[in-house]
Amino acid sequence: MNVIEIQNLTKDYGHGRGVFDINLNVQKSQVYGFLGPNGAGKSTVIRHIMGFSRPQKGSIKVYGYDCFKEYYKFFDKVGYIPGEIALPEGLTGNEFISMMIKLRNAESAPKLDELLDLFEFKANGETKKMSLGDKRKLAIIVAFMNDPELLILDEPTSGLDPVMQEVFIDYIKKEKERGKTIFISSHIFKEIEDTCDIISIIKDGKIVSTFDGDSIKHSKNKSYKCKFYNAEDMQNFLEELKKSPSYSRVKNKELYCSKVEKNKNQVIVNIVDDKINVLLALLSKYKLIVFKQVAFTLEDYFMQFYIEDKKYGGAL
Ligand SMILES: Nc1ncnc2c1ncn2[C@@H]1O[C@H](COP(=O)(O)OP(=O)(O)OP(=O)(O)O)[C@@H](O)[C@H]1O
Ligand SMILES: [Mg+2]
Repeated sequence: MNVIEIQNLTKDYGHGRGVFDINLNVQKSQVYGFLGPNGAGKSTVIRHIMGFSRPQKGSIKVYGYDCFKEYYKFFDKVGYIPGEIALPEGLTGNEFISMMIKLRNAESAPKLDELLDLFEFKANGETKKMSLGDKRKLAIIVAFMNDPELLILDEPTSGLDPVMQEVFIDYIKKEKERGKTIFISSHIFKEIEDTCDIISIIKDGKIVSTFDGDSIKHSKNKSYKCKFYNAEDMQNFLEELKKSPSYSRVKNKELYCSKVEKNKNQVIVNIVDDKINVLLALLSKYKLIVFKQVAFTLEDYFMQFYIEDKKYGGAL
């Protein structure tokens, strides 16, 4: 069963900004990752899921209900963390928690104590005086405290320190085992890589790739670190690489350079398995200090979609 169903969602803010023809389905008990850089359109899609925004085109449903017109029919099943946390002033954390429990028409929050403990959060301070990390922790606690079936999380760990990010990732994994459906936007690769069953990459308002979280680990793509004896060799190699018939930056992704570290005379070359001979033939003319395979990661895959764009710091 699809818990979230988005068909042809478009919201055009003009000047190429917004989201365009978004299609995606999230099934029950799936963790779905939505990966994209600043301004890609993650929060816009999420605001539509939450019923805050009326779609210009297309339809968007949660548990079969229209998100904009029938949000009240499913809102008590949803926990939400907004991308930008805006807490009401003049309240303590405890008062805010009580307010949210009442708003949900709940008697109590069964997971509250566990979450306060896990995130080492003291809720007696005033919301106004909380640090960014504390505000984020409070938003996480409030989203999960009623044990909702569906979680909509917009960059949930931004502002958390690395230890708390890990605590959060472990918590998501446990909630996944308990059968929760989770939609999570992020630009932190590890968070998505560690938790998601399905991942979509969003670029300039459009989904450019949707794939199984596991497929990256079993990918035919490989990455090799090549450190040259000197800068001239590295430059010559890059020139020759670009002339190779197998070379491509994005289209067929057979052989390309994803990273150049000029100060180290070092490059990362990505290939599909059967192009290893082409790479070795090219490298054989140069003196190398390091040649080793490095794990092909979600970040490498993601960068394929951004490598040509100078605005994202294309590698070549
Ligand atoms: N209300 C609005 N009016 C006009 N333009 C908007 C509005 N909301 C978003 N945009 C534009 O739509 C695009 C997508 O914005 P969105 O906030 O969805 O990106 P995002 O992926 O969430 O980015 P971030 O990682 O920075 O949170 C951006 O170009 C943004 O400027
Ligand atoms: Mg956002």
